[in-house]
Order: sequence, then C-alpha cells, then structure tokens
Amino acid sequence: MDGRAQLLIFVLLSATLGNLKLAAALAERRKLAANTSGFISIDCGVDEDYFDEQTEIFYKSDKDFISTGENKYVSSGNNDEDPYFGRICQSARYFPKGRKNCYTLRPEQGKNQNYLIRVFFKYGKNQTPRFDLYIGVDFWMTVQTSKYALYEIIYFSLTDAINLCLVNTGYGTPFISALELRFMNHSIYRIESRSLYVVGRYDVGNSTNRNVRYKDDVYDRFWTTFIPDNFISLNTTSNIDVQSSNNTLKTPMEVLRTAVQPPSPLRSFNHSFPYTDNSNNEYYACFHFAEILQTSPGKPTREFTVNLNGANYGPITLQYLKPLTICYPPIKSRNVGDIFISMESTVRSVLPPIFNALEIFYVMPPPVSPTHPADVDAIMAVRQTYNINKDDDWQGDPCLPRGITWTGLSCSYDSNSPRVISLNLSASKLTGKISSSFSELKAIESLDLSGNQLTGTIPEFLAQLPNLTVLNLTGNRLTGSIPQSLVQKSNDGLLQMSLNGNPQLCQTDSCEKKKQNFLLPVVASVTTIMVLLFLSSIFVFWRMKRQKATSQSEKEGRVISKNRSFSYSEIVSITDNFKTIIGEGGFGKVYFGALKDNTQVAVKLLSQYSRQGYEEFQAEAQLLMIVHHRNLVSLIGYCDDHHNKALIYEYMVNGNLREHLSESSGSTLNWDERLHIAADAAQGLEYLHNGCKPPIIHRDLKTSNILLNEKLQAKIADFGLSRAFANESVSHITTRPAGTFGYLDPEAYASGIFNKKSDVHSFGIILLELITGQPALKRDVDEEIIGIQQWVTPIIENGDIGSIVDPRLQGNFDTNSAWKAVEIALSCVLDTAIRRPDMSDVVGELKECLAILTPVVGSQRMDRGSMRSINSLETRSLEIDTEMAPSPR
Ligand SMILES: *[C@@H]1O[C@H](CO)[C@@H](O)[C@H](O)[C@H]1NC(C)=O
Ligand SMILES: *[C@@H]1O[C@H](CO)[C@@H](O)[C@H](O)[C@H]1NC(C)=O
Ligand SMILES: *[C@@H]1O[C@H](CO)[C@@H](O)[C@H](O)[C@H]1NC(C)=O
Ligand SMILES: *[C@@H]1O[C@H](CO)[C@@H](O)[C@H](O)[C@H]1NC(C)=O
Repeated sequence: MDGRAQLLIFVLLSATLGNLKLAAALAERRKLAANTSGFISIDCGVDEDYFDEQTEIFYKSDKDFISTGENKYVSSGNNDEDPYFGRICQSARYFPKGRKNCYTLRPEQGKNQNYLIRVFFKYGKNQTPRFDLYIGVDFWMTVQTSKYALYEIIYFSLTDAINLCLVNTGYGTPFISALELRFMNHSIYRIESRSLYVVGRYDVGNSTNRNVRYKDDVYDRFWTTFIPDNFISLNTTSNIDVQSSNNTLKTPMEVLRTAVQPPSPLRSFNHSFPYTDNSNNEYYACFHFAEILQTSPGKPTREFTVNLNGANYGPITLQYLKPLTICYPPIKSRNVGDIFISMESTVRSVLPPIFNALEIFYVMPPPVSPTHPADVDAIMAVRQTYNINKDDDWQGDPCLPRGITWTGLSCSYDSNSPRVISLNLSASKLTGKISSSFSELKAIESLDLSGNQLTGTIPEFLAQLPNLTVLNLTGNRLTGSIPQSLVQKSNDGLLQMSLNGNPQLCQTDSCEKKKQNFLLPVVASVTTIMVLLFLSSIFVFWRMKRQKATSQSEKEGRVISKNRSFSYSEIVSITDNFKTIIGEGGFGKVYFGALKDNTQVAVKLLSQYSRQGYEEFQAEAQLLMIVHHRNLVSLIGYCDDHHNKALIYEYMVNGNLREHLSESSGSTLNWDERLHIAADAAQGLEYLHNGCKPPIIHRDLKTSNILLNEKLQAKIADFGLSRAFANESVSHITTRPAGTFGYLDPEAYASGIFNKKSDVHSFGIILLELITGQPALKRDVDEEIIGIQQWVTPIIENGDIGSIVDPRLQGNFDTNSAWKAVEIALSCVLDTAIRRPDMSDVVGELKECLAILTPVVGSQRMDRGSMRSINSLETRSLEIDTEMAPSPR
C-alpha cells in the first residue's frame, strides 16, 4: 500500500466518521425540534447553537436572524438570579451602528396568529443604556435595565415575518441577551388583533421560589411565584385534571397545585396591584382556579364572587381537582394605575375564596399597519438583487417606525398602510440591470438610480408606474434606446427624466429605427411587402395632397411654395435688402417682405447660432411647414445658403400681443377680444401639444410670440424653433436657457427640462397679462421685481377681482368670466407641474368663459364636450380653493 492509498483510506474513513457524527447531531436536533415545535429560541451573541440541559431548550445562535451588531461575552456561569434562565444571559449582542437594528423571526405558523415573545436583557457593566423596543412596527416599550430584565408579550402578528427592532434613541448602545418566540394555540388570549403585554403572571401560593416554565408549561410561559401578604398558602401533590376542557389556557399542573386563601375566619379579601402611572391604560386579567382541599361532598363547599376594578362577576363554584380559567373583559386601571381585585364567599359557601394563579396584561394600542405588503416585497427584492445594506439600516419595516425609514427611502402615510413614494439609490454601487422589482413599487413618485454602474436597457415597465414623476438614471452604463412610452410621458410633462452620462444610450429616434430593422430579419419578406404597400400609399397620398395644395393656393390667389426653398438672393429681394425690421427674437431679426405675388411675409433671418448641416435644417424646416393650424403662424418657406439661414412666415398685420397690451399702445383690447385671443392662443398651443406627433414643445411662449392678424385673430409664432435649432450638438446654444424670464416655469428653469406643462405655465402668465394688462414681471410697492402671479394671488385671495382686471377697460368686463379666466390662469401656473391642466382642458374652459359672454339659448351647446370641460373646471376650481385657504368668493 503506498502513501497515496493510505491517504485515500484515511480520507474516506474520516468522511464516514464525520457523516456519522453529523447524522447523530441531526437526529438529536430533529428530536428536539419536534419536542419544541412552535418554539424559536435564540441566544444572542453566541457563536454556536446548543442544547441547554437545565431548561431542556435548544438554543440557536442569532446569526441567521440578524446581520448587524457585535457579539459580546457578558459573564460566565449560570444566571445568579434565576437559574431557570439557563445560559442565555452569558452573552449579548450590541448594536453600536445604525438607528434601528432588527431581528427577523419567521414562525412557520405565519401571520394572524398569537405568539408569546420574550426578550432578555442582562447588562455586563454598571451604567445602563436606554433604548426603544419595537415589535413589528408597534412600539413595545423603552428598555432600561438595572441588572437584568425579561419582558413578555402575547403578540398578534399581522405579517408572516415578525421583526423585533432595537432603536437607538441616543441614550447608549442597545443590546439584547436572548429572544424567544412561542406559538400560542389559543384564541382566549386574543382581544381582536390587540397584543397583550404581560405585566404579571403569578403562580400564587408557591412557597418554593421555583418559578415554573417549560417543560411544566407546554407554552413555556414564565410563572413567577407569589404569595400576597396576609394570605395562607395551600398546596397539594394530587393530580389536577389539566386535560379538562375547562383548562382553556393549558395552565400547568404545577401552577394549579398551589393556591392562597384568606386566613380564617375571613370570608373575603382584596388586593391591589399597582402597575402604571397612566390611568387610561386598558388591562386584561385571567384567573386560574382549582379546588385543592379535599372536602366532604354535598353542599357547595367553595362558592364566591369576583370583583375586578368595580365590576362584579360570579358566583363561581369549584370542584375538587378540576381547573377553571376565567378571563374577564378588559378593564381600565383605577386611580394611579391600580388593578384592584376582591373576592367574597357566597352565604352558602363553607370555605373562603381561593385563587391559584393570575395573569395581568396591558392591552397594547391597536396595531399600526405595516408598510403595504407589495411595497415591502418589492423593496426587499431590490435589497436582495443589489445586496444593499445602507449604513446597516435597511432592516425591519421600510417606512416604520415613522421617522426611522430606511436610508434613501421616503414614504407617504396618508393611507392605512404606508407606501414607498421615493427611492434614492444614487451612488450606491448598484450593478447589473434595472431590476423588474422596481416596477412593483406601484406608489413610487421619484426614483433616483444615478451614479451607479447599471447596465442593459431602460426597461419599458418604468413607464407603467402610474405616479412616477422623477426618474434619474444619470451616470450609469445603460445601453439601447429609450422606450417610447417614457419619452411620451416626458413630453407630456408627466415625467422628469434625466438620462445624461450614459454614453452608450441611444437618445434619438434614428437608432431605434435601426434597431427595429435589425430585429426584424425573420419577417423580412412580410416587412418588405408591407413597406412597399406603405410607400405606395404614401406616394398616392402625397400626390393627392400636392394636387389639393396647388388648387387651394390657386384659389387663394397666391403661390404658396410647396416645401419651398429660397436662395439668399431671393431673400434679399423679398425683404427689399432687409429694409424694414419688424421684430427681433431669440433666433434673429425679423424683416418685412413681399413675395413676387405681393403676398406679405415676415422673414426671420437666423443668426449664426445654428450650425446644423443643410439636411438637418431642411428636414426641420420641412417638418415645421407641414404643421398647419389656424392659430399657428404658417411657415411658408426657408432659405439655407451656406451661412445664411432664414425662415419665411405669413405676415401678421397687427403685430404681437405685447405691443397691444403695453402702456404705450394707442388702443385698448376690449374684454371680449382678450378672451378670444386667449382662446385662439390656447387652441394653437393645444394643437402643438396634442395634434402633432411627436408633440412640439414651444419652450418660449410669451406675449411677443403671439401675433395678431387683421381680424385680431391670434396665432402663435416661433414654435418648434427651440427644438429644431437649439440643437444639442451646438454647444454654445445650450448654455443659453430657452424660455424668457417671467414666463419660465420654475421647475423647468431649475431642471432645464421643458415639457408640455412648462408651456402651460407660460400660457397661464400670458392669460394673466391679458386679464390685468400688466407685464409678466412688474415692480411691487417696494420696487422689487415680482412675477405677475405673485401680484395677483393675494388680491384674488381677498376676493378683489376688480383690482386686478386691466383698469383701461374701465370696468367694462363680465365679472363671472373674469373669475373663471383668473382661475384658469392660476391653475396653469401652479407650482407643481403635474397639477397644471393639459391644454385641451384649458381650451375647453376658455370656451366656457366665452360662452358666459355670449350665452347660447337652449341646450344645444351642452354637447358632451362642453359638459366635460365644465366638470373638469369644477374639479379644478376646487383644487384652487384648497390651495389658497381663503376662498376667492
Ligand atoms: C390548536 O388547538 C386545536 C384545538 O384546541 C387543535 O386541534 C390543534 O391541533 C392545535 N394546533 C397546534 C398546532 O397545536
Ligand atoms: C407545600 O406545603 C408544604 C408544607 O406547608 C411546604 O413545605 C412546601 O414547600 C409546599 N410546596 C409548595 C410547592 O409550595
Ligand atoms: C439622492 O441623494 C443624493 C445624495 O444623497 C442627492 O444629491 C440627490 O439629490 C438625491 N436625489 C433625489 C431625487 O432626492
Ligand atoms: C440626477 O442625478 C445627478 C447625479 O446624482 C444629479 O447631478 C442631477 O441633478 C439629477 N437630476 C435631477 C433632475 O434630479
């Protein structure tokens, strides 16, 4: 036999021996586990599980129940005070870090059950810390131990997992020595779903100092020996019929074998238990009786009544060696928290009253609802996926106790159970994909995953989160394209989305198309056919449109150039060598011009801002040319000659709205005209938002961009320019904020993100200008520059509409419509973007406003559309009322 063979045999042998040892240990454990099913016994701070010979309980180390804290050895030897504790107080676990440290117990019986839970504290040093103990999400007590302490509760669990949390309140490091859970299979301890904090459990009349617990008590309740002063204790060694159905709480025989009675000749007694300084507390008491004196049968030998804090019960008759347990309805404590008991024999009773055991519980306040289970499951899954353990405090319930939520998480407490509404995992070293568990946080409003190393694509499900308004994925390694649904939400102003710093992320439509083509080779033949069909239909449609356009322009007597491109020399001639400047906007000067057919036009000569390539410019210009609406200034043509770019618009005789509202304006727009202008502008904007695919965000809506034609019909100008020409590739333009001060949505200004709702804000300002005749920014009495809405709001709150409507109207306006218009305007400028209405609502409401001016007889106007807008206006008015405490009326 060579060395290698010997080694092999040795290895095999020791493996077999090891297996045998293991099997024996397992068998032993199984036996013990079977003995104590429904028990979870944890000795905190020990390294290994062990069987305690003295208590005959199998204790586990706390490793599997908590991940934080430090083990500490406290003392050797058994507990001096109470040997029946066994070894559990020799070690403890301390929690120097984190505000909240929680043990998680998962009893197999699950939720909606009663459990006896017991905690032990034995402190090794002299000074004693003070900290709070929570069971589940309910405050249990403040722990302040002198030498050692144990506390018991009969806990009704609403959840499968039970957390026991030690909360550092700033008075020393929390610690715990042992933790035990016992399943209680009896409903008699149950008062609805209230938990019962054990304030006293007495084995009355036991003169041995030997407290009773497991195995005498199958539920391992702790029964403390107790003989009240001036009582006589009795005991028996006879067997009491503990299997009797009257022994509802399985009171142990050892406990029932001892009792007290008053000394002869007394036939009554009373005793008070002082417990608490809060006389409003509710208590629950259970009495355990058994006759242990053998007497001659016949007459009732022991019959008595019970009085508990003034309430009378009974009479009770006892039979020899037959147990009887009675739990009385909850009582309020008397005076300074006293429980007052008295018992009195009936006239025919031979013997005085007796009692063998007593339990007194403090009825805990109704349980606090834990965080919504779906949110808990989701956040737990997130925690597990990314292995998060923020400062050790992602423990216990995410939202509770209030004020001690998990780091990076915030909750709403409006509904019955708290909901997770924001999650900030910024810079948390997250790796891997964006977990689908996030999609289960249904109430989430803000999700910040910025500054991590997340990879993969942005999942579609983020768009399905109904309340999500902030999504920050900045600074990750995300790839692929952005789901259209998210883009849509962002464009609709429902979502503030930050995606910068993901170099591989495709932020434009074009790569998405590429990707789709790439994805579809399998169905290529089908696709080809469909594409061909599609192209041919487009061709037919294009030809029809062309014919229609031509005939229409002929009919209108002017040549609207079809997708017309002009040369620079043509521009020079159209503007008569840039003779008349009629305006100057953010993108360049505007000149008056005339086409060859004498059609008057406005030519906007774009300054050198735009360095886009010819094709991009042309594509954008052509896109703008197909946007047609009666309330949008039409783009007739464009010029792109080397460095010279120009846009040719229809000419609006009456200039812009700013001029008409300014102090220096010769004429004054009347109320009716103002409301019509507002409605026109609203319809134009509504078309940009909801009629165009993709939606066009104006970004720079203001009175000088609202132009008026000869009939004072309003049209919006300069739309689409920011999008088309403030391209990201032109870096120096992006530093110039879009929008104009005074009109700017504060949210958009802060984030640099423009969406429909930022346009709605600007529209609200315009509407206020129309109503008041004041500029968007004005000086207040202290000469400070303030926004028009800040000026209007306090006056409106005082119900003073007359003081805000343009004085130049000299009172010639309809008050109801003015109120309505102000309400619409203020709803548009609400600080919270998502609460602002959509432009379609605004259009509907402004039409209602006009309807007040020119009432239409009969019900014809009450079509479904206007009904809807009336309803939506009503809800919004309500919102305004709640926003501004004093009602405007
Ligand atoms: C609970 O008690 C009922 C009746 O008292 C009994 O049938 C049942 O087996 C008990 N369950 C456990 C788990 O002890
Ligand atoms: C029972 O009574 C005897 C005599 O009074 C006493 O010695 C003994 O300790 C008692 N047993 C208990 C359990 O109280
Ligand atoms: C998330 O936390 C980081 C740092 O703690 C902070 O800068 C950022 O503003 C937070 N995000 C949100 C959405 O509150
Ligand atoms: C997104 O996160 C980045 C990095 O944490 C931060 O700079 C940026 O301001 C955040 N954006 C928003 C809109 O909160």
